[in-house]
Amino acid sequence: MAKSSQPGNADQGGGSTLTEPISLVASRRHTVRFAALDIQHALVRAQLREAFDRVLRSSAFTLGEEVEAFEDEFASYCGVDHCVGVASGTAALALMLRAYDIGPGDEVIVPAHTFIATALAVEHVGATPVLCDVQQDTGLIDPVAARAQVGPRTAAIIAVHLYGQACDMDALGALAGSRGLLLLEDAAQAAGAWHRDRRVGSLGAASAFSFYPGKNLGALGDGGAVCTDDALLATRLRRLRNLGQRAKGEHVEAGYNERLDGLQAAFLRVKLPWLDEWNAARRARAADYAQMLPDWVDVLEERVHAPCTYHLFPIRLVERDAVAAGLQAARVQTGMHYRRAVHQHVAWRGRPARRGELPVAESWAATELSLPMHPHLSVGEVERVCEALGALRTVRLSATSAARMARP
Ligand SMILES: Cc1ncc(COP(=O)(O)O)c(C=O)c1O
Repeated sequence: MAKSSQPGNADQGGGSTLTEPISLVASRRHTVRFAALDIQHALVRAQLREAFDRVLRSSAFTLGEEVEAFEDEFASYCGVDHCVGVASGTAALALMLRAYDIGPGDEVIVPAHTFIATALAVEHVGATPVLCDVQQDTGLIDPVAARAQVGPRTAAIIAVHLYGQACDMDALGALAGSRGLLLLEDAAQAAGAWHRDRRVGSLGAASAFSFYPGKNLGALGDGGAVCTDDALLATRLRRLRNLGQRAKGEHVEAGYNERLDGLQAAFLRVKLPWLDEWNAARRARAADYAQMLPDWVDVLEERVHAPCTYHLFPIRLVERDAVAAGLQAARVQTGMHYRRAVHQHVAWRGRPARRGELPVAESWAATELSLPMHPHLSVGEVERVCEALGALRTVRLSATSAARMARP
């Protein structure tokens, strides 16, 4: 699917008049939205309202039967024995680490190109995140770079299935196995994705999911889950999410208040049966993009054994910011995931946990642009985006040739 595995090979000439002609034609067209949760919710509105009424009648607002039912349904969807619903994806990551007793003195390898929550969760349990570079063509953790980061204090590696594509779990599994490390998944962006014949979430010792509204499987507020085949770990997680409570009024460890709400679980139960269809629609639009995008645009490399569920549709461009402005003028919404690598955030200043350079993560941060992507995006809208991008190139070329022609 990749048009090129080389980032940022877009022409750099011109650029100052990038947005002008586009804005002239844009006014008569509707905005191509980055996401469209309203369409999704209109589709299942009756069921969502029914789910709301069900919870209202039961008054089971924190944990309770809807949470238990969702946990069973999501565990079986992912192909694991246990799912433990929690309050967010960040909580899922932190509790997963806590449940393995990862804490002060331990190091955890995480990719430098990810949503910052992956690294923050490691900090939250008192362990040290060690940032690792990513692959040029997928933006996913690079197993070779990960191997170089393993030291005597390394306890785990977190494989982040960014953009909806599974990491190279064969190589990471071999590395973890040979060095006695835990291999954990951050599957926040990849609900429903496959790696060979297994679903994401069933590939490591345990996996963390986010049900933030914009995710492929999103609640109507925050939510998350940890999946695992390990019964003891699941029991510990149930305790940790509920203030260390083993039985009512019996607190056996210093846990947290990180429970999944009954309402969110009930809403997630409405949406889960749609997830495969919505992911298939995302893939169909991704295929349309791949066909229609100008050939100077670099798209995500998709591996055969790890079909991407396109939580996002990232492209890479040297003139990313100018192109984003041009698309905005053409009424195409875009995003950046992420414009800073983890170590480039203010929150990271003064932290020691970085061994070596992270050039690929930094180049993703400088060049990534996310195009509109959601299950209800139309082929016509993809066409609009591609047309707008194509026109930007024309503008840049003509600006370059104009400069050339102006030379004496
Ligand atoms: C890769 C990744 N990890 C973790 C998280 C954190 O999830 P939440 O926002 O539910 O805490 C997100 C959410 O954006 C994410 O994209």
